[in-house]
Amino acid sequence: MSLSLSLLRSHLGAWVLSLLILASWFGVSGSTQKIGRGYRLVAIGRSPGGEGLAGVLQVKQSTGKYGPDIRQLKFFVRHETEDRLRVYITDDDQERWEVPYDLLPESESRRRSPHPPLKLVFTYKADPFGFTVKRKSDGQILFDTNAGAGDPYNSLVFKDQYLEISTRLPGGAAIYGLGENTQPGGIRLRPNDPYTLYTTDISAINLNMDLYGSHPFYMDLRNVNGEPFAMAGTSLTYKAIGGVLDFYFFSGPTPLGVVDQYTSLIGRPAPMPYWAFGFHQCRWGYQNISVVESVVEAYQKARIPLDVIWNDDDHMDAAKDFTLDPVNYPRAKLLAFLEKIHAQGMKYIVLIDPGIAVNESYGVFVRGMAADVFIKYGGKPYLAQVWPGPVYFPDFLSPSGVSWWVDEIDRFHELVPVDGLWIDMNEVSNFCTGQCEMPTAAHPCPMGRAPVQDQRVGEPGPAGFKTIATSATHYGGVLEYNAHSLYGFSQAVATRRALQGLQGKRPFILTRSTFVGSGALAAHWTGDNKGTWEDLRYSISTMLNFGIFGMPMVGSDICGFYPAPTEELCNRWIELGAFYPFSRDHSNLHSPRQELYLWDSVAASARNALGLRYRLLPYLYTLSYEAHTTGAPIARPLFFSFPNFTEAYGLSTQFLLGRGGDGRQGAVPPGTWYNLFDLRKAVSAEDGQYVTLDAPLNEINVHEARATPFTLVVAFPLGAAVGEASGGVFVDDDERPEMKLEDGQSTYATFYATLQNGTVRVWSDVAHGSFALQQELIIEKVTLVGVSGAGRGLSIEVDGEALSDLAGARFLELNPRSLMVEIGGLALPLGKNFSLTWR
Ligand code: NOJ
Repeated sequence: MSLSLSLLRSHLGAWVLSLLILASWFGVSGSTQKIGRGYRLVAIGRSPGGEGLAGVLQVKQSTGKYGPDIRQLKFFVRHETEDRLRVYITDDDQERWEVPYDLLPESESRRRSPHPPLKLVFTYKADPFGFTVKRKSDGQILFDTNAGAGDPYNSLVFKDQYLEISTRLPGGAAIYGLGENTQPGGIRLRPNDPYTLYTTDISAINLNMDLYGSHPFYMDLRNVNGEPFAMAGTSLTYKAIGGVLDFYFFSGPTPLGVVDQYTSLIGRPAPMPYWAFGFHQCRWGYQNISVVESVVEAYQKARIPLDVIWNDDDHMDAAKDFTLDPVNYPRAKLLAFLEKIHAQGMKYIVLIDPGIAVNESYGVFVRGMAADVFIKYGGKPYLAQVWPGPVYFPDFLSPSGVSWWVDEIDRFHELVPVDGLWIDMNEVSNFCTGQCEMPTAAHPCPMGRAPVQDQRVGEPGPAGFKTIATSATHYGGVLEYNAHSLYGFSQAVATRRALQGLQGKRPFILTRSTFVGSGALAAHWTGDNKGTWEDLRYSISTMLNFGIFGMPMVGSDICGFYPAPTEELCNRWIELGAFYPFSRDHSNLHSPRQELYLWDSVAASARNALGLRYRLLPYLYTLSYEAHTTGAPIARPLFFSFPNFTEAYGLSTQFLLGRGGDGRQGAVPPGTWYNLFDLRKAVSAEDGQYVTLDAPLNEINVHEARATPFTLVVAFPLGAAVGEASGGVFVDDDERPEMKLEDGQSTYATFYATLQNGTVRVWSDVAHGSFALQQELIIEKVTLVGVSGAGRGLSIEVDGEALSDLAGARFLELNPRSLMVEIGGLALPLGKNFSLTWR
């Protein structure tokens, strides 16, 4: 069955459900194969603590395929919060491996007891055992594992190395999530496509393949009219090769509600330093420190903003982590460079790889051996090959591995005061398959047989292909087979711990491999993409997916990682990439250089697009505060703000920054959308429609529907007689590890505006104003757009007192009916409540 993307016009509302399984591996497809014969319920009652249900299941009939079925299962069902229900199923006789919850960042609600009213209802059928999860408020069945009519067996299969369960999808469902992969069709998942989740180093240009991260989480957006999408009648099947079935259902009902509930479980997105929202330049192949210096100088000369300069592995001595190449990156010269750029407020980040060179004269290796930190195979460290040649991989599940890593980062920071770390290749990537031998000229990289074969789909090879052999062991004897997808995640946990200890500053980490909860630790880029128009487009879907996965600080290599972008593409890419939450130009060693200043036209586009990004930095930073406190993605699919606008369900070439947006051939959600480059350009739509926007080469269409602080832009619908607007700004000392609203440490100002009877009122409501007052933050200009009629009187009060000295208002004609009014020359303290009336 194929999914048609013709979208429905009529709509009343939308519902959302989400679900998360923690399993070592699984794939999803639209069809089920009958591997097992299901289970029957033999006992059920209240669970021992009385907080839910517990039951026992017995297999109906064992089948031979993929090994014997587990005879008896136990399960529990628990309302963990009002809006979260957990269903957990495992072997009744033997303990099985599960994702270690103590690795996940401490979440707000993991142990919160629920308060009625509970929003989800669990019901079950005894034989064959099946269950449903229903939302109480509207009766929607969010999950249903019962067999369909004419299907004698329920789908539950539970074997040692094969678990399977299906849910039916009703008409009207649109499914999002289940990554990481590059989906040609955009953000909306297609039925019958398999989604395999097993962290793998294959470049992001591979479509519909299993990529670097594993996020077994999806969001189900439904059209309440029940008009069927082509997905009607299909099912969603989970196939896991180990672990347990551990489902979390979140009641929504809005997309923002779902990410809020999800991130309250898995950990809120990490606070990011303010500078991380600046522009970043990187490249694999900056041969020496002078080249890096010249790049920074060229950016300055071209007047293109640059906040962070990066080194890939070029600074390293023979690709060894935590070392410096004595010839090309002599320490004294590097330190002098860092002193200079740090004095300008710029930052410096370098890459590290997990593989530690096997080399007796390398201190990092010697100390690692002494502390016994490496993953084992047959009792000895597991030998692999990456950039330095033979390497061992540290085990970040081992406490001594974590302490050693923290210590090595500490030592490195003494050597080079880096401002953040980039952890790459942590799926983990191995140039060999299976256990390597010491390489010889004749046998450079043995491709051993992976110990465990399975029926993975969308994969370059079996589990163990070009990664650690699945029978290698971690701390406590945990098999790589089980813990595989946790590698990058556990490395981010250890790296964050190390950086938190350094000077008490807010850490910045960029990681390639991710898992559930990685957003609470690090930022992510979408890996090795191509400098093509397709990859430019796909970058939007992947970015939006990571927002849904609770990892909103995300972007793609601007202009593409390889082979070489055209000038036109690079123009367009910086125009888009300037609005990625994480905005970095990066390229491959073998590609030509692609810094933005190298083409005049690209430099002009960069100045234009990044210029706007920099004006919006307080807004982006406020969005990151919102992300950190509620999980709300920074870059959002349109359906997040307009869940009733079904035209937006499949849209994967447009996105919103908070509640603002951009586009070319764009669907315009209802309302007026102002062009942020020039507020006099606006588009209005009554019901939502497609419009073609003029997009000259150096301009991208960026439209926003809410205010920007410091210059406060208040946007009303064009020519409307009445209107309302609101927005906010969060400011703090972004070097503090914590990002929270606290007296003396941070300020949040909420702005409101109304338009009625030709009178505009704008006022603020400030929480913990003292920080903004200490910093002397002021609003210089208030711009009103979309207001009609000529301006007459202006009055302003600050903390209830009238200001007598008022700067004059400038009036600018927008169109025959409407005005843009700029009230400049103000010095309204951000930390005080003000009110402005213009009539
Ligand atoms: C792979 C990463 O994806 C890429 O960004 C990096 O340049 C290379 N490794 C070299 O370190």
